[in-house]
Amino acid sequence: MTKKPIEKVEKSILTEKKLLFHKDRIKEFKEGGATFPIAFDIDLTNLCNHRCPNCWGSNDKTREDGGADCTHQDFERLKKLIPEIKKLGARSIIYSGGGEPTLYPHFAEILRYTKEQGLDTAVVTNGSVFNEEIIEAMVDCCTWIRISLDADGPEIYKIAHGMPSESFFTVVNNIKHLIGRKKSKQKEITVSTCFLIGPKTWKGAYGAAKLSRELGVDYIRIRPYFQLPGNDKTKIEVDKTLKVLEKCKELETENFKISYPTYRVMWMDDKKRIRQYKKCYLPHFLTYIAPDGNLYPCCAMKNDTSKSMGNIKDKLFNDVWYDENRKKISDKINLGECPNPCNYENHIKFLWDLIESDKSVDDYCDEKGLKLPEQKGIHKNFL
Ligand SMILES: C[S@@+](CC[C@H](N)C(=O)[O-])C[C@H]1O[C@@H](n2cnc3c(N)ncnc32)[C@H](O)[C@@H]1O
Ligand code: SF4
Repeated sequence: MTKKPIEKVEKSILTEKKLLFHKDRIKEFKEGGATFPIAFDIDLTNLCNHRCPNCWGSNDKTREDGGADCTHQDFERLKKLIPEIKKLGARSIIYSGGGEPTLYPHFAEILRYTKEQGLDTAVVTNGSVFNEEIIEAMVDCCTWIRISLDADGPEIYKIAHGMPSESFFTVVNNIKHLIGRKKSKQKEITVSTCFLIGPKTWKGAYGAAKLSRELGVDYIRIRPYFQLPGNDKTKIEVDKTLKVLEKCKELETENFKISYPTYRVMWMDDKKRIRQYKKCYLPHFLTYIAPDGNLYPCCAMKNDTSKSMGNIKDKLFNDVWYDENRKKISDKINLGECPNPCNYENHIKFLWDLIESDKSVDDYCDEKGLKLPEQKGIHKNFL
């Protein structure tokens, strides 16, 4: 089998060109300076049962065993919010955490409700607390599910998740169970694993990819930790990592892909970190709601309440969204405080080009020969 170049594989799975499915919104923003978000990232809870040492969503104060700062999304508010945003034009919701989303007391119910309301739904989970109700709801409702595996066995799992051997085996069994239900119900959902590649865990990437293939997931996403300014402890060696990733690619088959953002690996080398945009427009298209109801321009700002654009607990989403304060905060983002590179680097560059161009969105696309991506499983309503 001929091997596809890395960039091509990366783009085939999580391409920024998906934004072209939402040209209406980009045009609206370009012409009028405002639009409604396409996608929502909602943290159901900051509570977590795991102890990943470098987690940016949960910490010692939000652990399952008595953390003082545990906060859940207000269920009644959430049930009003979902139809409200659907009516205004939202197209998808990712329930990804903060902490562990499956620990939210109404997790299965909220997945079913989101689907009933006509929004595409996805989940990012550590995969440790599945039960029948959770698995059924995910298989019935999600477009995609991503499980943070982060290891090839108990040894690396302890480093990555701070958890004992049993936890690793529980997660592996839960993935088997999930895939089994997906198959028996003949659902077209995408199930993937992911792996955070760090200085102490990189050796597990190949084994994790192999295990993921054996488990029958559709792909594994391997990526470095976010590099927040001043934090170098999760930095990886570029050459060594690229070699491991190349080796992982040998595991690809028709039904199993390896996905990794090459630029996020390359940019671990400080000299290669070059931002090709001056402003981030993404928060106008993708927004983030923390468990306490605060709305943030992006998930990287969720631990800083000074970046809150308003709170939806006692207000209609529409009122917070079209408030001048929300726009002001989005416009004032200091890129120097953002993770470099950002998870959405390519999306941001693409939006920058489309919005800053002198040409209309359609003319720009025609000039560049840009067409809608056609890959199977593109999940167009998720950015
Ligand atoms: C914060 S977790 C919440 C969901 C769930 N508990 C889980 O682990 O999948 C969401 C994703 O963020 C990733 N993550 C955690 N800390 C990170 C960091 N410092 N840099 C990049 N990604 C991180 C996790 O690996 C996970 O895939
Ligand atoms: S399982 Fe997820 S939320 Fe929990 S500590 Fe690990 S990365 Fe953070």
